[in-house]
Amino acid sequence: GYGNLYSAGYSTRTAALSQALFNDGAACGQCYKIACDRKLADPMFCKPGISVTITATNLCPPNYALPSDNGGWCNPPRPHFDMAQPAWEKIGVYKGGIIPVMYQRVPCVRKGGVRFKIAGHDYFNLVNVFNVAAAGSIKSMDVKTSNSDAWAPMGRNWGANWQSLANLTGKMLSFRLTNTDGQTLVFNNIVPAGWTFGQTFASKLQF
Ligand SMILES: *[C@@H]1O[C@H](CO)[C@@H](O)[C@H](O)[C@H]1NC(C)=O
Repeated sequence: GYGNLYSAGYSTRTAALSQALFNDGAACGQCYKIACDRKLADPMFCKPGISVTITATNLCPPNYALPSDNGGWCNPPRPHFDMAQPAWEKIGVYKGGIIPVMYQRVPCVRKGGVRFKIAGHDYFNLVNVFNVAAAGSIKSMDVKTSNSDAWAPMGRNWGANWQSLANLTGKMLSFRLTNTDGQTLVFNNIVPAGWTFGQTFASKLQF
């Protein structure tokens, strides 16, 4: 749901996660440090001693067949990272296609604050939350309009996209995020009145 991964700031340090890791999109934005497992990998395809940190930006669906394999690598319960080529080539040889890895979830490092991109239309706002540091992943999100004191819960639509069925068009908006580590941040009036669909709003706040 991040759209263009370059404009979202993730560049090629990204991977699609198999269903076992993706957690129905709850893992979107999380960071993983990955290295070739020299004990298990074919030495021809392994670059041992080097790690690369990626952000989870996509789902690698079950039965998704890469041209270079027999398919099924992303089937549950297998943890699998379908890595962007430049990230993959840090730790493995392109021709190898698939290598056994060691991996570890790590805190995400980001430049600047959390950002929000608004898509959708009246009565169906879709807000993409990106550039999230630390846990990287969001557990819950609420929205508040300028003319109301009440927070209204938003729901995860897909991946890092959160939806509201209220008509928020043109209203000043505040967002409240709780990350998967349980930390909550309030982005007061982050979206000015008169906003339009497709706009991105950068905050100065970061987890
Ligand atoms: C949503 O709110 C805006 C601004 O108040 C209004 O112009 C628009 O007609 C509303 N949309 C619908 C579908 O009611």
